[in-house]
Parts: sequence; structure tokens; C-alpha cells
Amino acid sequence: MTANKNIEEDKKKESYPTNKTWWKEAIVYQLYPRSFKDSNGDGIGDIKGIIASLDYLQSLGITVIWLNPVFSSPNDDMGYDVSDYRNIMTEMGTMNDFNELLNGLHQRGIKLIADLVLNHTSDEHDWFVQSKSSRNNPYRNYYHWWPAEKGVPPRRYSVFHEEGAWTYDNTTDSYYLHYFSRKQPDLNWENPTVRKEMYEVMKFWLDKGVDGFRLDAFTYISKDNSYPEIPEKYKEDPFSYYSCGPGLHNYLQEMNKEVFSHYDLMTVGEASGITHDQALLFTATERKEIQTLYHFDHANWGRNKNNLYYPDLKNRKLTDLKKIFSLWDAAFENDGWGAVYLTTHDQSRMVSRFGNDTTYRNESSKLLLTFLLSMRGTPYIYQGDEIGMRNIRFEKIGEYKDLHTINYYHYLATTGGDTQAFIEAQKETARDNSRTPFQWSNQKNAGFTNGTPWINVNPDYESINARNAENDPASILHYTRKMIALRKALPVLVYGDFNLLEKESETLFVFTRRLANMQVLVVLNFSDTETAFTLRANDKIVKEIINNYNEQTHFENSRVVLKPWQAILYECITDES
Ligand code: NOJ
Repeated sequence: MTANKNIEEDKKKESYPTNKTWWKEAIVYQLYPRSFKDSNGDGIGDIKGIIASLDYLQSLGITVIWLNPVFSSPNDDMGYDVSDYRNIMTEMGTMNDFNELLNGLHQRGIKLIADLVLNHTSDEHDWFVQSKSSRNNPYRNYYHWWPAEKGVPPRRYSVFHEEGAWTYDNTTDSYYLHYFSRKQPDLNWENPTVRKEMYEVMKFWLDKGVDGFRLDAFTYISKDNSYPEIPEKYKEDPFSYYSCGPGLHNYLQEMNKEVFSHYDLMTVGEASGITHDQALLFTATERKEIQTLYHFDHANWGRNKNNLYYPDLKNRKLTDLKKIFSLWDAAFENDGWGAVYLTTHDQSRMVSRFGNDTTYRNESSKLLLTFLLSMRGTPYIYQGDEIGMRNIRFEKIGEYKDLHTINYYHYLATTGGDTQAFIEAQKETARDNSRTPFQWSNQKNAGFTNGTPWINVNPDYESINARNAENDPASILHYTRKMIALRKALPVLVYGDFNLLEKESETLFVFTRRLANMQVLVVLNFSDTETAFTLRANDKIVKEIINNYNEQTHFENSRVVLKPWQAILYECITDES
């Protein structure tokens, strides 16, 4: 890797752009607390566990943590069903623990963004308990209700494959709306009092010192309260209908005016159903809505388009992936800002989906991290990817904890579907693949807990764990640190233009990043076979910056042969005369 002196020289070649912000320069680590570190032996990760791991987090060099929800919750959907926005979930600890965590992070120069669930609460939230108690309750209008005397409401689909998104409640002879599970009733954002309540929640956490929010399912918040039939053009994909409610942009602008504009914060929206041509409607500076968002286009890469529960590994094409990332980069070319990620707690493991998690687990993990950290847009590393954790591939439905999988299995089981084929499919696509405990060591339960883990630990922990990685200079972990240091040292990797080369190749993902007279050439071999790359006629290599294999590469007649999953960054000059 380039020595510090060289980095300083490189920096001089770059001119710093004027629209710099800390959240564009951020390197985010997504921390799924339930599975990070358990401190009290109840088998569930907790805040004290994170506090005990602060030095590890700092050692990575990351600058922001996206913390999945830690608010009070009955955990029907693992914290995304909040029963009290101003309290901490019992299993996670106390508010004092949270304050200590925030301080500990800030002392180490790491910011924290909280995961705010906007679209729905838990059915155990006091607002909903009140709302369902009578049609005249002052909280009635906090949620969406359909009186049964009007008949059955027009069909709405549930993301979690429940019978539908309207559930009948006999207390008031009415149906309530829930796009997710029936324990996650949707808030009625059309009610100004609800919006105000949520803005107060945001201020509560910002005043405490959190540095921003990941906005959960924010595109779903606005509804047409006449609840019409879903228009024909959305029938194929009802979820895109959910993402274009009539009040969405007004509410985001109001949120910005009431809350965001008063703080120096980072906002990233989970932009389900949003296409690249809509990106600036949310993120352009003058729109005053949110700063960044993340899309799902590549999350569906390698999945069966007709049913995302099933993989379609044979039809994965690197050219499609390149198109997706290029389109999204172009969306933010002049304004707005993107997020670059390869997995989250809602998708299976990065190396199992985009890499090779057997023969080339080490090389392909490093390549994918190189990709994340050299693209334009704020990079997100999901916990465990820095040590190359992979899909657990459960064999039995009983091992799954996620209702997304469990509900669909039951649907198949009760309708004569092929449950065995589904279990096979879930080995590649289930969300629980990413939610197994962090593998700290080769001790019992991977050092995650002294008790019984809430979800099984991947048996590969005996070899794949942080302690082993720490002791091996060639590990993914050490490489991650180097790549992070590089991203921090070279502004071109943050602010430089992105230019895709080798567009038609099904094995090479090659691009340049350029800022003033500094240009980095990123060459990634996304395949199990050696692949040759040839420089453009007017390109000249200045030096190799980082390489995920030990030996330096050599060009012969402008041609270099990359090993399987080899990833290299070069400094490169293009002669434009
Ligand atoms: C998106 C979250 O990331 C996911 O985990 C959750 O199930 C849904 N939103 C519902 O809140």
C-alpha cells in the first residue's frame, strides 16, 4: 500500500471541491446490534456489548455507525415495530447505556445515525392501543382505518406476504392498514398531529446528540386516504404504488424545515420503489428534502424477477450490475449524493451473492470491499463483511427467525406449494443469512454470547472469525483497514468523477475516478478465472496503489493479466493531447 509520504503527495495533486461535507466523506459501518455482541448472556446482542467493542470499531477506521433500531419493541420484525420511540428496548439495555455508547463513539471521532421507523409503529405502541380502543378515541386518526360497514377494503399487498395489508379488528368492527406485518400498523401521515409527533421524536434524538437518521421505508409514508383500487399500471408491482403517495414530497420538505434544517446531520433514506430518474426529487440540494438515499436495483440482481424469494443465479450478468451502478452514479452527477452498499440486514451476505464464498472467499471479499470504497457515493460496510462472513444457509424452517421467510413458508405449506424448493431458495436470498451473530473468535458461540444465541451461529466460525483475522496479516480485516485508510487519504475516491470502462465485459468491472489532475484506475476481476485487461492507448500507469494479491502486477504491452477476483487500484495519467 502507498506509504504516507506518497499519500501526501497524491493529495497535493487533487483540488478540493467546494461542496465538501462530512457525510459525503463518511465511511459507514452498519451495525445490527441484536447480533453484534451480547454482554449479559441472554443470547441477544446489546448496547453494553457494543461499548465493549468500541476499540474494534475504531480500529477499522470507519467514521459513522448506522445502528439498526434499539427502541422499545416487541420484536415482531426485529425492532422495526417500535412501541416507544423515546425508550430503549429492554434486551438492548437502558438509556444510560445508549448515552454512554454515544459518548464513547464521539470520543473516538465516530458519529452515529439512528434508524428511524417512520411508516409504522408496533401495534403495542400506546398510540395504536388507544386508536383501536374506540372510533371516537383522540388517537383514532393516527392510523388508517376502514369501517367494515363499507364492505371489504380494496386489496393492498403486504410486503411480508400476509393475507393482505388490511386486518380486521373486531373491537371497532374496522380494518386497519399495515404494509408490513399485522403487528406494524401504518401511521397516518396525512394527519398533521402525527407528523408533528414524529418530528418531536426526531428532535429528541438529535438533541441527545445523534448525528442523523437512516429513514426506514420513508417512501411509503403518504397514502391516498380514499384507499382506491391500485391503478392498473401498478398492478404488476404494487410496491411502487406505495412509494408515490400524494403527500410524500410535501412531508419531506416539511420534515426538513421543521427538523433537519436546524441540525448538522446526515440523512439517508431507504428508497424502496424509487428509480434513478426520481433520485434528485429527493436529494437535490434545492429540494430541501433528504441528503442521500439507497436504492434496491442491485439488491434484486441474481434474484428471480417474478418472485424475489427465489434466486436466479445463472442469469446474473456483470454488465447488468455495471449498468445499475452507472445509472445511479449518473443520477447524482451534478447534485444530490448516493449511498453505495452491497448488502444490509435485509439481504443475504455480500460475498455469497456477489463474490465466491468458497474457493475465493478471501480474494472476492477484498475485491468487493475495494469496490465499495472506490465508488462515488457514501460507502456502507455491513458488519461481518470485513471478516468475510457468509450465508448460513439454514436447512430447516425452524431455524429461521425472520417473519419474511416464515410467513411465505407457511403460505406455501398451506397452499400445497413446494416448501423444500423454498428452503433451498432461502439459502441464497433469506434476510437471516446476514443476521447471524458476529464471529469474534473460535470460542463457544463464536464469542458472541455465553448464553444461547437468539439465532444460530454460522458453524464456519471456527475458522472465520475476527481473532483469526487479526492474527493474519493477509486477512480481509487488515485489507479493509487499508482500503478505508486509502479512501480517507485520497479525496479523488470521494469526490472524483466516475467513468466506466470495459462496458461490455462480463468479467471486468473497470472505472476511473478523477479529480483535477489526480486519476485512479480501478480494475476488478469479478470472476473465478484469469482475465486480461488492456489499457486504453492514451493511458499510462504511474503506480500501483493497492492490490488484493501480494505480488505487484506488471503490464506488458499495456496488458495485464488479473488473477481470479483480483482488485487493483492504479494511479493513471490519460494523455488528452
Ligand atoms: C426496512 C427494514 O430495513 C426492514 O428490516 C424492515 O423489515 C422493514 N423496513 C419494515 O420496517
